[in-house]
Amino acid sequence: MTNADSSEPYRIMFVCLGNICRSPAAQGVMEGLVRSRGLAGRIEVDSSGTASYHIGKRPDARMVAAAGRRGIQLTSFAKAFVGGDVERRDLVIAMDGENFGDIVRKTGKRENVRLLSDYLGEGWLRDVPDPYYGGESGFEVVLDMLEAACPEILSEWEALKGRTSLADGQSSM
Ligand code: 4NP
Repeated sequence: MTNADSSEPYRIMFVCLGNICRSPAAQGVMEGLVRSRGLAGRIEVDSSGTASYHIGKRPDARMVAAAGRRGIQLTSFAKAFVGGDVERRDLVIAMDGENFGDIVRKTGKRENVRLLSDYLGEGWLRDVPDPYYGGESGFEVVLDMLEAACPEILSEWEALKGRTSLADGQSSM
């Protein structure tokens, strides 16, 4: 586990089911923020899926298009979440409660695992809705949630600097 104030980058992984819609978009939103705030090299971002159906694929074209309209680039290739991912990241963020449960069941760890909506205030959905089988508007809902939450994730990282780990910070779990 790295320290938020160490010379090691702070490593964040976003996790959804297929790793072709929600978590690649989360990765893209966060990568854009990291670049725009001059934090490249200090924060590393990736994503994975709890299911292995789409390993190696680029993000869903509908998600790529919706993100592109907001100036967000999606660069990932789908990979499956594996047990060691939680230990190799400072923060693992699940898109919905099912993803969260799968991560905790697989790893037995929850100290550095969060729900994306932990970074959203009142009035937001608890789960980032899976847009895969729905229409265009579902992709916009996903992006709205991600664009609201990602700055808050960076604020938590700022607040954590100087502490030894996320467990010493402002955990909501
Ligand atoms: P994601 O969306 O978990 O946001 O990547 C999905 C992508 C594919 C499937 C389900 C959800 N699928 O069933 O293939």
